[in-house]
Amino acid sequence: MAWDYTDLVKQHFFSPRNVGKIEAPDGAGQVGSIACGDALSLTIKVDGATDRITDAKFQTFGCGSAIASSSMLTEMVKGKTLDEALSITNQDIAAALGGLPAEKMHCSVMGREALEAAINDYRGVKAKAEEEKDEGRIVCNCFGIAEGKIRRVIREDNLRTVEDVTNYTKAGGGCGSCTAQIEEILEDELGKKAAEEAAVQPARKRLRTNLERINLIQEVLDNEVRPILQKDSGDLDLVDIDGHRVTIRMVGHCSGCRAAGLTTGWIEDKLREIVDPNISLEVLEE
Ligand code: FES
Repeated sequence: MAWDYTDLVKQHFFSPRNVGKIEAPDGAGQVGSIACGDALSLTIKVDGATDRITDAKFQTFGCGSAIASSSMLTEMVKGKTLDEALSITNQDIAAALGGLPAEKMHCSVMGREALEAAINDYRGVKAKAEEEKDEGRIVCNCFGIAEGKIRRVIREDNLRTVEDVTNYTKAGGGCGSCTAQIEEILEDELGKKAAEEAAVQPARKRLRTNLERINLIQEVLDNEVRPILQKDSGDLDLVDIDGHRVTIRMVGHCSGCRAAGLTTGWIEDKLREIVDPNISLEVLEE
């Protein structure tokens, strides 16, 4: 399968920055496993007086996207305080590269986990990914992915389908025998999320006027949808609202994206869930 890589991904793949291992590092994080196809080792130097990362290096056994994600990550964290570095999400890494193919998002997740592991190592705290390994049962034996990780990534990245879970964690990408378990976990997480949202939206359900509906649609698109698209260097334009029909145009990286159908389905679900179950979404071509 041919994937569409951005120029930045190619630059970081062909000329990766900060490759190697820091001698006597202040923190080290190792995630993945070579047996499962991907592994990443990240070492950092920290200035104890300022709490800033002064150097970061990586070694990885993975694909071009894993190399590019790790390289970009090391550039992003240098000079940041530990807390600033910890606020970098896997979506931020992908966005800094101008986007990653959906099937390769697990590389950015691996980078984020290695960063967290290295910082936690420096602080003497156990990494979340490590705790998940110990606590959760292994769901995907092909890639050694535990239930805890699947649940966390579903929540953090707003995943909606089993295919999304595979793209972000690799779980389910081998023999496929874990697909039913992933589906169960996904349904459970989506159910919990819907219940949480329902609990905070009783006021929204009392919508009566067209004006209220229009305002709420704009609010949902601006506050809940667009920030997520923008993290992947995409966006949307709201073209029209006519009764229950909402017309949008996908722009930036979302325009012509292979996963556009998934994304627009998610946007329609969101509007139906929060604003009105009768909403239909129309997507104009650019
Ligand atoms: S056990 Fe998950 S893909 Fe094989």
